[in-house]
Amino acid sequence: MTPSAWVQPVIDSTEVFKPDIFKGKVLFCTGGGSGICRVMTEAVALVVDYVLRVFLKMRHGASATIVGRKLERLTQTAKELSEATGSICIPAQADVRQPKTLQEAVAKTIEKFGRIDFVICGAAGNFLAPIANLSENAFRTVIEIDTLGTYNTVKATLPHLRASKGSYIHVSATLHYRGTPYQAHVSAAKAAVDALSAVITVEEGPHGVRSNVIAPGPIAATEGMSRLMPQNSKKFGSDGPGGRFGDSKDIANAAVFLFSPAAAFVSGQVLVVDGGYENIRYSF
Ligand code: HXC
Repeated sequence: MTPSAWVQPVIDSTEVFKPDIFKGKVLFCTGGGSGICRVMTEAVALVVDYVLRVFLKMRHGASATIVGRKLERLTQTAKELSEATGSICIPAQADVRQPKTLQEAVAKTIEKFGRIDFVICGAAGNFLAPIANLSENAFRTVIEIDTLGTYNTVKATLPHLRASKGSYIHVSATLHYRGTPYQAHVSAAKAAVDALSAVITVEEGPHGVRSNVIAPGPIAATEGMSRLMPQNSKKFGSDGPGGRFGDSKDIANAAVFLFSPAAAFVSGQVLVVDGGYENIRYSF
């Protein structure tokens, strides 16, 4: 019997997930840039860890620019990544709230590599604060880092992604799916990021550009978790269906998939990487 068309493999997965699938490609990753304070810089490094460490260690072959505000920290991280992987990783100092600095980071990337294929919008800021005590400036600060920063990054890179028929990944969250206490600022900011990605998908799809969101759940050893973990709670985060905290590799693997040809027909999606945590409604 001849198998029907839909059961025939369109592509051999071993051809997609070969070690050098991203050879010749260039990644531009904002990890925070605008944060200004020390913890923000730390978050930048962690977002870079999320994706780049595994991304490059697996030797998928991409070169990368990592973008942040603290040049010294970026330079050290770029050096470590280059040494560990054999790929070229360069630092570029920029504040995602300031378009000009992002444009300069993009220009540096083009000068060095000649192209940009992948962009990770990973800049984020967070702290716990009830809305009753959340100042206008505090709210605005997170909106500017997360939402305006994403907009600025997209505007600075879009011509290059059109040219390469490239792909965006926006690092969002699951906080805004319900009312998460003390997270009004981040919930509003990330909801807007999800919306931006959907619009980019429909407007830029005809130009060959894809856009997707990764929404990490509780990921161990991140700045976000250390800030959001309820005090005295050892359970939160490991009590989900997966029975453990997420690992940065879980996020990195999702990114590799979304950037890869295996996801060539995947755009406008929010990929929740949380071990099923978001599916819990009641615990008995
Ligand atoms: C109330 C606070 C506050 C707090 C700052 N503010 N921290 N308000 N509670 N804990 C207020 C300040 O008082 C000020 O308002 C305004 O916010 C701006 O503060 P600055 O320190 O001047 O801003 P800046 O130096 O730019 O720092 C940005 C930041 C900071 C967002 C405020 O927390 C930061 O740099 N964070 C980066 C690290 C981070 O948050 N990583 C987590 C990302 S993970 P006033 O009115 O006084 O002027 C994530 C997803 C998590 O977001 C998902 C997990 C499941």
